[in-house]
Amino acid sequence: MSDSVLVTGATGNTGAHVVAGLRERSHRARAASRHPDSADADAVAFDWSDDATFAPALTGVRAVYVVAPAGAADRPFLETAAARGVRRVVLLSSSAVARGEPGLGEIHDLVTDLFAEPTVLRPSWFMQNFVGDHPLAETIRRAREIVTATGDGRLGFIDAADIAATAVEALTATEPVGGDLVLTGPESLSYPEAAAIVSEVLGRPVRHVDVSTAELARRLTAAGYSAEFSSMLAALDERIRTGEQDLVTTTVRDITGRTPTSLRHFLAGHASRLASSP
Ligand SMILES: NC(=O)c1ccc[n+]([C@@H]2O[C@H](COP(=O)([O-])OP(=O)(O)OC[C@H]3O[C@@H](n4cnc5c(N)ncnc54)[C@H](OP(=O)(O)O)[C@@H]3O)[C@@H](O)[C@H]2O)c1
Repeated sequence: MSDSVLVTGATGNTGAHVVAGLRERSHRARAASRHPDSADADAVAFDWSDDATFAPALTGVRAVYVVAPAGAADRPFLETAAARGVRRVVLLSSSAVARGEPGLGEIHDLVTDLFAEPTVLRPSWFMQNFVGDHPLAETIRRAREIVTATGDGRLGFIDAADIAATAVEALTATEPVGGDLVLTGPESLSYPEAAAIVSEVLGRPVRHVDVSTAELARRLTAAGYSAEFSSMLAALDERIRTGEQDLVTTTVRDITGRTPTSLRHFLAGHASRLASSP
């Protein structure tokens, strides 16, 4: 019987919470990773670029949580899943990428075309960017600076745990949730405002440095990130600068019933990781 949910990106920001959330509700979650945890009997080897991993990962699976790595060859796996009878897919996309746009927007199209019960989650920027291995977190730890090309533009930072809670609901609800869902935290903040909150939580000043998009890309490349990743991140900042991402939605609360976490609350819970490497 097909009763499992395959969670791709199971070691990542949202995927780890999706696995935990499914298991808390007694659903069977197969945690997919290129390096599956040998201590987890339901962990499974999966690599988007290795089609030999697809069929074993999809055995007994009725639904899939899709975290597609940038530039991955996503089509072969998704076509295999559809051919094996998977009906329900929840895709993690981004508020900055509309259906049909290059990259995640093309996967959005594909998932909508291939599966009977698609739900596309389009979250704003993750609060985890302030504390993990994201360039933003690295600059806070190293230089006590937040460097962006966003100016005073605002965005609705969201905790990955709130995205995951929404995904768990969409993966397990009796009636499909469906749709193209923009997810945000409870408030819209600029990076200067976020820097003030970080300073307060850390008890030390962290300043916001506003640079041009080209300068941000240059700094990211100089810090060792690839030219492609650097220009992609910097270009996203422009979407914020124009005000396009100044959004607050009630979708997390509407779907899960939970109040989404505020940036201040999230950072207070991760204060040690703000100051030193994870
Ligand atoms: N960060 C943000 O602010 C933000 C905002 C909106 C949307 N998003 C989107 O969210 C998604 C996740 O981003 P994230 O930074 O939070 O990453 P993440 O989910 O924390 O990490 C990426 C995951 O992908 C898996 N992975 C990478 N390459 C793989 C491969 N070839 N085959 C199988 N699995 C692979 C990794 O697992 P293993 O290493 O264990 O294999 C890891 O679990 C991205 O599509 C991003 O565009 C991010």
